Amino acid sequence: MKRSIIISGGAGFIGSHVVRLFVNKYPDYRIVNLDKLTYAGNLANLKDIEDRPNYRFVKGDICDFESVLSLMREESVDGIIHLAAESHVDRSIKDPFTFARTNVLGTLSLLQAARLYWEGLPERYSGKLFYHISTDEVYGALEMTCPEGMEAPFTSGASSGSHHLAYGSEFFTEDRKYSPHSPYSASKASSDHFVRAFHDTYGMPVVVTNCSNNYGPYQFPEKLIPLFINNIVHRRSLPVYGRGENVRDWLYVEDHARAIDTIFHSGKVAETYNIGGFNEWKNIDVIRLLIRAVDRQLGRAEGADDDLVTFVTDRAGHDLRYAIDSRKLRSELGWEPSLQFEEGIERTVRWYLDNAAWMENVTSGDYLKYYEDMYKGR
Ligand code: NAD
Ligand code: TYD
Repeated sequence: MKRSIIISGGAGFIGSHVVRLFVNKYPDYRIVNLDKLTYAGNLANLKDIEDRPNYRFVKGDICDFESVLSLMREESVDGIIHLAAESHVDRSIKDPFTFARTNVLGTLSLLQAARLYWEGLPERYSGKLFYHISTDEVYGALEMTCPEGMEAPFTSGASSGSHHLAYGSEFFTEDRKYSPHSPYSASKASSDHFVRAFHDTYGMPVVVTNCSNNYGPYQFPEKLIPLFINNIVHRRSLPVYGRGENVRDWLYVEDHARAIDTIFHSGKVAETYNIGGFNEWKNIDVIRLLIRAVDRQLGRAEGADDDLVTFVTDRAGHDLRYAIDSRKLRSELGWEPSLQFEEGIERTVRWYLDNAAWMENVTSGDYLKYYEDMYKGR
């Protein structure tokens, strides 16, 4: 095998797309998916590749340092792509400890295991890479200086779509000061610092990427897009936080996976790359797009489900606007998003409609109870 790579969190939303891409594209790589299978991890996300000879699934917790170290030794691991995390802001508001444990201590455990294993090899860190996947949310929130939207800058590549709007003049660049507001983003920020500290202190080759909001197939329906698609299908109300004016910068998940592939192979050690498509949307506009797409694909009359929109109490500490400046990744490594947002939404809606059994499975039982508790009183 040319490379032996642990992908942590490979049974989750983004991780499953990264695992699929690497297993298919690199038959001469060994891909080890290390995942605890929390509520967000689902082996059904990887049914199509589970029997491949270059793929192995290991059920395990990244916080379990001894097991992680012995897995690295057993598989002679030379690369780690670290996606395992607790990832939902609303859950972090309810249960911040779990986020600190997994995202901070879990990352530290992976780093320390990699350090002990790699430092014990004759070649030490040569040919090794610890690639940490982070989020734009570590940068905090941007001002909305242009609420009606202005022409978005730097919109080469497809992901900006016909909408082409930016809601402020500032963007997150790689050198922006960290200013996390939610327990989720605070835990991711802390893990980013640990990764960089392992480079600066021990010389570990690391790379960090901070990506904007992802959407696409296999996303757990606690996040806006799959949750709302499912609610529209079943004609349940759509709980829009505040006035739906918050802005997110959306990227199709396969474009993120392609960026990870590019950066894993060609990124510069110790660098940070921001990943995003210059594709800002107000939540309410995304929701209108979703209603139109679901209704059209189900053959319902236009506007039939507009009244599902229900404005509810805002999320505590709700970040107003995220907007990534991805020019470094584009100019240095030649990555571009491949898909216009409207087309990505059509594709995503089609996937959830065609995979009703997947949705049914992840929204039954314990999850539904948790979900009901979470929205009690709204
Ligand atoms: P997800 O919640 O869908 O999946 C997380 C995966 O990690 C699950 O398979 C879960 O079982 C696994 N996991 C959780 N705790 C674990 C532990 N202790 N040990 C081993 N595995 C564990 O998350 P996602 O949306 O796919 O996000 C993946 C990564 O990308 C995260 O680090 C997240 O911060 C980052 N990210 C996400 C987005 C987004 O829009 N979803 C955007 C930017 C960055
Ligand atoms: P989410 O998908 O949770 O991602 P993040 O909080 O990491 O950006 O939410 C996306 C946006 O949608 C965010 O501004 C919060 C909002 N939102 C709602 O209005 N209602 C909901 O039920 C959810 C889950 C999110």
